[in-house]
Amino acid sequence: MVQGAFLVDLKGKHVIIFGGKNGLLGKAVTKALLVAKALPIPLSSSDCDILNPKGIEKILNKINPDLIINAAAYTNVDRAEDETEAAFSLNATAPLLLAVEAAKRDILLVHYSTDFVFRGDKKRPYGVTDKPGAFSVYGISKAEGERNLLEFGYDKTLLIRISWLFGAGKMNFVEKILSFAQREMQITVVNDQIGSPSYTTDIAENTLALIRHDANGIYHLANSGTTSWFGLASEAVKIAGLNCTIEPVPSHKYPTKAVRPKYSVLDLSDFTQLTGITPRSWQEALKEYMGHEFPELKSS
Ligand SMILES: NC(=O)c1ccc[n+]([C@@H]2O[C@H](COP(=O)([O-])OP(=O)(O)OC[C@H]3O[C@@H](n4cnc5c(N)ncnc54)[C@H](OP(=O)(O)O)[C@@H]3O)[C@@H](O)[C@H]2O)c1
Repeated sequence: MVQGAFLVDLKGKHVIIFGGKNGLLGKAVTKALLVAKALPIPLSSSDCDILNPKGIEKILNKINPDLIINAAAYTNVDRAEDETEAAFSLNATAPLLLAVEAAKRDILLVHYSTDFVFRGDKKRPYGVTDKPGAFSVYGISKAEGERNLLEFGYDKTLLIRISWLFGAGKMNFVEKILSFAQREMQITVVNDQIGSPSYTTDIAENTLALIRHDANGIYHLANSGTTSWFGLASEAVKIAGLNCTIEPVPSHKYPTKAVRPKYSVLDLSDFTQLTGITPRSWQEALKEYMGHEFPELKSS
């Protein structure tokens, strides 16, 4: 069957979302599924530890889902440098445990990965077939998770790389910047890492578009357009009408434990080709997010 040849109806489908109860993206995916009239079952790590094969099997037997979405991960990029084992367990081993269970049940597994799997030494958007080459433990562990899934080779696996999330329900870069900008007159933000900011609501909706189009294999999702962290912070502060100056700084003046890619823009063309959807710009998405989440701040 050719991908996208028919539309999968999500209505009434039972969907388990690991990381769906408390995760930044998982919450948005749960919400989008509700809008699509599916029957999402968002889970926390205390509902089911995805490092425990017996626990996974038990919950899948109980719920008998039509598909599994894995939005759970070890996501603290800097802490991962010291907690290598924990990062690899969650990001590399757990996805394979989920794939084994999905394959036993012949159901779709959706798994998220990251732009941070790439080295960042390119000057053009990364395509789905570009080779990962991360420097950071987080990036390497996520790339190993991808490789484990690809080597396992279960054909109902949808691996979605995403980048630079902001969205409701959990602290994120934009919320941190707005909180600083309300207290400080000036903040410094790095301007030499380039990527694509992405609204969790849009990633969630576009994930459902991929599922509806019966997608499998690797896809990239983000909002359209590119910027630096400095560009994202400046736009957020401008939209909020806050009186705070954002100063650009190079990464070497703001050293972090983990090395991040200098350039990690994702090429979205495979997604657009399959679904006919061009994601809206990150600026438009940011404005909507801030209008919803921070209505007390002026929206310009
Ligand atoms: N955030 C970004 O900017 C970004 C960028 C690119 C890619 N991604 C990828 O997008 C996905 C979602 O990221 P996110 O930022 O939404 O993550 P997040 O907010 O950090 O949420 C991750 C969730 O994983 C769950 N989890 C942790 N350990 C678990 C375990 N042993 N068993 C079951 N669940 C466990 C946690 O659940 P509890 O809270 O219940 O413990 C947590 O809510 C990840 O694959 C990440 O790599 C994120």
